[in-house]
Amino acid sequence: MSSTAITNIATLVTNDPSLGDTSPLGQVRDAAVVIDGDRIVWTGESSKAPATDNRVDAGGRAVLPGFVDSHSHLVFAGDRTEEFNARMSGRRYSAGGIRTTVAATRAATDGELEANLTRFLAEALRQGTTTFETKSGYGLTVQDEARALRVAAAHTDEVTYLGAHIVAPEYAEDPAGYVALVTGEMLDACAPHARWIDVFCEKGAFDGDQARAILTAGKAKGLHPRVHANQLSYGPGVQLAVELDAASADHCTHLTDADVDALAQGSTVATLLPGAEFSTRAEWPDARRLLDAGVTVALSTDCNPGSSFTSSVPFCVALAVRDMGMTPDEAVWSATAGGAAALRRTDIGRLTPGARADLTLLDAPSHVHLAYRPGVPLVSGVWRSGVRVV
Ligand code: NIG
Ligand code: FE
Repeated sequence: MSSTAITNIATLVTNDPSLGDTSPLGQVRDAAVVIDGDRIVWTGESSKAPATDNRVDAGGRAVLPGFVDSHSHLVFAGDRTEEFNARMSGRRYSAGGIRTTVAATRAATDGELEANLTRFLAEALRQGTTTFETKSGYGLTVQDEARALRVAAAHTDEVTYLGAHIVAPEYAEDPAGYVALVTGEMLDACAPHARWIDVFCEKGAFDGDQARAILTAGKAKGLHPRVHANQLSYGPGVQLAVELDAASADHCTHLTDADVDALAQGSTVATLLPGAEFSTRAEWPDARRLLDAGVTVALSTDCNPGSSFTSSVPFCVALAVRDMGMTPDEAVWSATAGGAAALRRTDIGRLTPGARADLTLLDAPSHVHLAYRPGVPLVSGVWRSGVRVV
């Protein structure tokens, strides 16, 4: 193993206040970071950096932890350009569009799904994402859901079983029969390939009782819950997520005071997905309200062909700052440490000794530029597990 020091960093975001300034970002100015193998072994002021085998000059630019995209739907085929076009002419988003992607996904070969996923991962990596979660949910048969999870598991440990995305078209007249399938034979086939179980708890998808039954069955099989909650309307999803100790309640667009209180008192992270509000022209989630209540907030892309066809965490950071009441510091924390918290991981999302060496080098003097210069491809270097990949 050889050690590498990245030196001459104008702003280093460690996400550890004990290492840098006392803000949550734990920023160090004129900094260096030392990588040995796949781990960070040292962070601090450049002038105090220990001797290493190799040296990379960051040229007075910013380094931050690789983004942790804790919510995406990347195993699918086809796209929904026409649906997006119609929305931009005034039609409302509805979960019904998911059926279009289900049909295309079922018709695709394993190779096509794999090629699609690989393309999106390369796209995300170029934009600084070093860890991603992804889900099934466009198969909705035992074989197609298990296949999606196998494809995903070849690329990430953060795999989520979402057989409960919508009721499969074949079960339109028998939703109870579909819940029985999702909690029975489909769960048995999918559980070995997944870490998480998710349900779309929403009118037109699954109600609170169905969602509880699905998540509870998943827990009994060793899967940990996360929930698509309160995206399109008020509902029971967020409080159910907290009750079941879900790692994350995702979307959180329509929240009552009781929902915010529940999140503040529990250990469930609120994952906000501004790409979805952007692409569906919906009301923004109120990040400020959640942060002021003491809720842990993550920011992710929700990349999927229907409601949010972006793989760009920097874009989501810019939206969150412009439209959701977050400061640039808060948004960057949420897209790194927040994403790690939403995946219950302590080895990523921070640049501290012992953490995985996942770093993003920006062509900018600080992380603030991610929001200040929206749409500009600022990511100019990415290290994943200590290896430079961009
Ligand atoms: O997170 N809300 C449910 N699922 C996705 C959208 C899926 C789709 O429209 O294809 C979401 O926004
Ligand atoms: Fe989603």
